[in-house]
Amino acid sequence: MKKQTLIYNGKSKQIFATESQNFIIMTYKDDETAYFGVKKSVIPNKGMLNNKISALIFKYLEKNGIYTHFVEQLDESEQLCRRATTLPLEFIVRNIIAGSLSRRLDIEEGTVPEQPIYEICLKSDVLRDPMINRYHVEGLGIAKEETLNQILVILKKINELLKNLLKKSHIDLIDFKVEFGFDTEGNLMLIDEISPDTARFWDSESHEHLDRDLFRRDLGDVETAYKEVLARLENVLQNG
Ligand code: TMP
Repeated sequence: MKKQTLIYNGKSKQIFATESQNFIIMTYKDDETAYFGVKKSVIPNKGMLNNKISALIFKYLEKNGIYTHFVEQLDESEQLCRRATTLPLEFIVRNIIAGSLSRRLDIEEGTVPEQPIYEICLKSDVLRDPMINRYHVEGLGIAKEETLNQILVILKKINELLKNLLKKSHIDLIDFKVEFGFDTEGNLMLIDEISPDTARFWDSESHEHLDRDLFRRDLGDVETAYKEVLARLENVLQNG
């Protein structure tokens, strides 16, 4: 399948139409941003690393019963994916308090909540992805109650699967963000990416960051950390 017109040019990815109505090609960029594009840089190989990491994770989730848009990795920075009608929402799952939740409620980073915390944000760069709740989503007609219930079940399953996978890679899953859409037949599916750009990964022993906080907070070399994440995942998923 070949890339045709550019249909979306995002901060970290581009989406191209293909000759089929049912598929798109997603290209990962080396561009890194934080704070809604206020901080910008180019990280060598980041696109390739996130493409490979997300492909491995999506294949693992598919194998374990999660329906996703991922079809196949085409090359170093491209994936073939099912075309989706996207929900303009970001779903965040937090196993450990960090980042914006730590700041907003003044809770020390690293605090373990009694149970995972789920958040919904409206995807809008202009509004800075405001947090909303399920009543906004349903009341404003963004998604139906039934869809949200289905998403909550899938989020719990993804969280358990990811925690297990990462634990074997000696990584703690602090939090992550995912997005959903519908395929051309109206089936709900996981879309976008799961990578160190969209999740917080801490080394299980040292608690060092292996994620985008390295860039956000100038904590260390992003490329080295993402390479380490890929190597650990390959080790667990490809070598047993
Ligand atoms: P936060 O602590 O900044 O709200 O982020 C929570 C998690 O969600 C973290 O793993 C980063 C991820 N995330 C994104 O990938 N994109 C976003 O736009 C936001 C707000 C968070």
